This record gives sequence, C-alpha cells and structure tokens, in this order.
Amino acid sequence: MKGLILSGGKGTRLRPLTFTQSKQLVPVANKPVLFYGIEALVEAGIRDIGIIVGDTREEIQGAVGDGSRFGPEVRVTYIDQPEPLGLAHAVLTAEPFLGREPFVMYLGDNILKSGVSSLVEEFVRRKPNALILLTEVPNPRMFGVAELSGGRVVRLVEKPKEPKSNLALVGVYLFDHNIFRAAKAIKPSWRNELEITDAIQYLVENGFEVQPHLVTGWWKDTGKIEDILEANRLILESLEGRVEGDVDADSRVSGAVVLERGVVVRSSTIRGPAIIGRDTEIVESYIGPFTAIQSGCRIVRTEIEHSIVLEGSEILDIGSRVDESLIGRGVRIYKCPPKPSVYRFVVGDKGEIGIK
Ligand code: DAU
Repeated sequence: MKGLILSGGKGTRLRPLTFTQSKQLVPVANKPVLFYGIEALVEAGIRDIGIIVGDTREEIQGAVGDGSRFGPEVRVTYIDQPEPLGLAHAVLTAEPFLGREPFVMYLGDNILKSGVSSLVEEFVRRKPNALILLTEVPNPRMFGVAELSGGRVVRLVEKPKEPKSNLALVGVYLFDHNIFRAAKAIKPSWRNELEITDAIQYLVENGFEVQPHLVTGWWKDTGKIEDILEANRLILESLEGRVEGDVDADSRVSGAVVLERGVVVRSSTIRGPAIIGRDTEIVESYIGPFTAIQSGCRIVRTEIEHSIVLEGSEILDIGSRVDESLIGRGVRIYKCPPKPSVYRFVVGDKGEIGIK
C-alpha cells in the first residue's frame, strides 16, 4: 500500500498567512498540519509516500525533506501538479508513482484523530475498490456529500446546493487502481476541477464496490482560520505535559503544559493544555488553555489563550486578554505611548484586527 498526500493548490482562504507559507504548513499545536497526515500513514505501516505539490513545493520540501525524519524506511517522493485542477487530476498526476498498488489518499489540510491504521486493515481484508470516510456535519454544503441507502453508497455530490444528507466526505480515501479509469472518464465540474467525488460516483455507477465508513472520532478540514484554532484545541486536549524550560519560583504551571528547551518563564501563570516552543520567553504573563506558541517568541505582561502564535513574534504589554487569535511569524504587537492617544498598525494584505 502506498500513500498519496495532496498539498498542491494555492491556499487562498488562509490569507494573509499563506502569503508567506503554504496552508498545509500552518502549525497546529506547534506542528505543521501536513505532518499529522504523514504520521498517520507511517503509523499504518505505509513507507512509500508521494506528496502532490504546486506553487509551494520548495517550502513543503524544506519542511518534510526526504521523509527520513518520520521513520528510518520512510521515503517521500514529490510529484509536481502544474495547476490545481482538482483532486482527481492530482490522482492522475500521481499515476506513474502509484502504479497498480492500492493507496491511501490524504488531503494535506485534513487531520483525522483516529488515524488510518484500522482503515488500511479493513481495506486489505475486504478488498473493495474504494473505501470512503463519512461524518455528519452541520454544514454539508461546504463538502462532498454522500447519500446512503441500506448501508450502500448510492450518490455522491460535490458541494451540493441542496444536500440530500448531512454526511460529508472526509478528506481521506482508500483506492485501488480502478480510480484512474474513473478519473479519466469524468469531466471538469462547474469550478473547472476534476472532482474526486465525481470519480467515486463513476465507480458507484459502473458496478465497482465503494465501501462507506462512518468516522466516529473528530476530523478537521483546516481550510479556514477558525478551523485551525479548533484543530489546535482538539490536538492540545490530548497533550502530555513535559517541562524542559526554566520556570522561576514566582511562576505557576498547571495542567498539561509542554515547555521546550530554552523556554524561560518569569513571574507568570501557564494553565494547560498549552505548548511553548524553544527559546520563547514568558514574562509577567498569563498563558491560558489551548494556546500554542512557537519558538523564539516574547510574551511580556500579556494575557493570551485559545490562540496560535508563530515563531519569532512579540506581544508586549497588552492590557486585555488576547483570545482566539492566529498571529503570524515575526509579528510585533505592543502598547503605544499614552500621548497622543492613537493606534499604530503595520498590517499585511487581508489582515484582520479586532479592537474593543
Ligand atoms: O476536506 C474534505 C473535502 O475536501 C471533501 O468533503 C470534498 O469532497 C473534497 O472535494 C475536498 O474539498 P475542498 O474544497 O476542501 O478541497 P481543497 O480545494 O481545499 O483541497 C484539499 C487539499 O488538496 C488541499 O491540501 C490542497 C490539495 N489540492 C487541491 C486541489 C484542488 C491539490 O493538491 N491539488 C488540487 O488540484
């Protein structure tokens, strides 16, 4: 069994962060979203992994490397998709890499709590042509949607205006080689993409076995900023604490908290679950639950919770609590002098600032 991770595309919905990096590399609990997919494949025993890349190939390759950081026998092959023409187009682009082997396809911006090991076992044991994952969602219009009848898949529609069910397609699929035939048979959709949903519908219509599997644990498509924050919260919920940093006697650390090497905590309270990356300084501050702060940051006389702060940023003397925020790399947030009473902003395109 091989693995195929889709990390092409342009990631426009996560601007402004995606001006500087691909959306699959945005950190959730201080780890790029993409790494959760790679780790899930490796945990299921898959060693040969192809990653579909587009404009952001260099950054992705820089972060993932040859795959050896994920295990001694893990090999990553980068597959260029010149344009993001759809998930089924990505599958066709990967055909020379995949050959006749069955494979797990994992969307690089998805995180599936339960991993894929049991799915791989199920696929190997029952040998359907495709195994698709479904879960109930409140907003099915945003996803591929499945209609079941008597436990069988009867229809799949991509982002339907009038969904016939609330069962969304999760971004993890298992296929045998018949998916290539299906992807070659379909036509581009209204958004000019070759939809994987249509390719699976082709399999259904042409007598191939498409097995549905209902996901019970949580799943997140991190395509939007609020979803990233929610994924961060869900991952941190099962964090195991580890303190390698230096905490002074005036500080209190409680709950599951990871303080990496070189972290300095002075006269502060950290209430987990929270993770603080290497060499970050926390001074006279409160770090609340569900906060992930990357390396080389400075948080001084500030309260922050349920937020993500990327590397090298500073938040200094903020009077009220910073909440539900996603702060990019090398950002500086500070208090202006009392006179004149002004705000000073240097904000990138499509930034967002909420003030009271
Ligand atoms: O997240 C689950 C949903 O993912 C499913 O319910 C939908 O049926 C499925 O079509 C897909 O919808 P999205 O609109 O969310 O897909 P998105 O364009 O965000 O692409 C998902 C990942 O695949 C993302 O990491 C970028 C990558 N990609 C996307 C396209 C269109 C590629 O590598 N190549 C592509 O051509």
